[in-house]
Amino acid sequence: MDSGADSDGVKSTGAGAALDPVDSLRRLDKEHFWHPFTQMQDWAASEDDPLIITSGQGAILTDIEGKEYLDGNSSIWTNIHGHRHPTIDAAIRDQLDRIAHCSALGFSNEPAILLAEKLTGLFPENTLTRVFFSDNGSTAIECACRMAVQYRDLCGESHRKRFVAFDGAYHGDTVGAASLGGIATFNGPFATMGYPVSRFAEVEALEQMSGDEAAEVNAVIIEPLIQGAAGMRLWPGGMLRRLREWCDRHGAFLILDEVMTGFGRTGRMFACEHEEVIPDFLCLAKGLTGGYMPLAATITNERVFEAFLGRYEELKTFFYGHSYCANPLGCAAALGSLRVFEEESVLASLPDKVAAFSRAVGEARELSPHFGEVRQLGLIAGLDLIDRETGGTLDWRRETGAKVCRRARAYGLLTRPIRDTLTLMPPLCVSEAQIHDAVAALVRAAGDVLGK
Ligand SMILES: Cc1ncc(COP(=O)(O)O)c(C=O)c1O
Repeated sequence: MDSGADSDGVKSTGAGAALDPVDSLRRLDKEHFWHPFTQMQDWAASEDDPLIITSGQGAILTDIEGKEYLDGNSSIWTNIHGHRHPTIDAAIRDQLDRIAHCSALGFSNEPAILLAEKLTGLFPENTLTRVFFSDNGSTAIECACRMAVQYRDLCGESHRKRFVAFDGAYHGDTVGAASLGGIATFNGPFATMGYPVSRFAEVEALEQMSGDEAAEVNAVIIEPLIQGAAGMRLWPGGMLRRLREWCDRHGAFLILDEVMTGFGRTGRMFACEHEEVIPDFLCLAKGLTGGYMPLAATITNERVFEAFLGRYEELKTFFYGHSYCANPLGCAAALGSLRVFEEESVLASLPDKVAAFSRAVGEARELSPHFGEVRQLGLIAGLDLIDRETGGTLDWRRETGAKVCRRARAYGLLTRPIRDTLTLMPPLCVSEAQIHDAVAALVRAAGDVLGK
């Protein structure tokens, strides 16, 4: 049966023989691929050809037509040392020659064992000692929350039901993780589901909580130092330490979501190092594998771990896990990434780059009337687009941020806005010249879209 041939005999389904291969892929994308966080009606609009990335090298991505771009948001905040780094590539290949996946339920594997040891070694001795692997940022958070809830149950503290979270927070998209988030747009129809949450705008407000209420708090969760999805919003200095003190005073856990900030983004290995705070749970994902593979880690301490120990029939087991927990390829990639940090003294290379980045994004305001507040920490920046007549915000419905980012492609930059905040978060291997080119691309693109 040749149901794919239309009246003039041209194949109209399948790989689209009448189209060139690139057009065919684009068409198939529009026909079958539902993209995350994407209005598919816009995506399918004829002038919006999907940009298909086919390769990468260092901080550069190449599309299917051979055009090169700077990976301005590290492929949605994941990539750390650049694409096709030889050390990570070799670590994955070497592991692939042995085995791609085996279960962590009842078995173990070498890269996961070594990675757990390496990760705990990044923190002061006897602090964060136990690593639970999962798949992504959302599951890392889910896992921390479930450990916290079950811990309270096991310790006769099940009255501690509440989580404290912050306005503007984003902790992922599974129902539990999303319920901790403070961005209404993302969670609208699901607002009644999930964990019981008390939400605060700042630590000062939390400090006003009565002792009785505080005694019902299970855990405080925060993106330390900077909120990503809120538009790269910086917390005031010292806040993290105050939160740690508040948690200690009231017996609450502190969960730090370093899914975005981990692995050098803020200029230190982890954001919590800036304020010398050790959480009870640390959640890592995105950059854990250098941005190569989906892998996450929830790291906790002996106090938490030991509460789950007992005879099988006591049912203290942490009944949680996913098929790909501790995936050997992901763990091998993560070990490769940590090796790059060591062998290439990556953290030592950051201060000069961060200074150049800070200067460049700061200058964007002087170079363009379209930029308002610019927020930056380490190699993370958010640049607010403003209405240059009023100095106020733009109407978000016009999607100006998205239009500017789309236009920036013409100047060799790929990034994604958060509404009308343009974001830059290049891989740590970015050069100073690339930093300048990226900011110049945003300035030119904003001028093109909003007027010179
Ligand atoms: C701070 C933070 N936490 C959690 C997540 C969720 O991670 P994932 O998308 O891997 O589930 C994100 C994703 O952007 C994030 O930025």
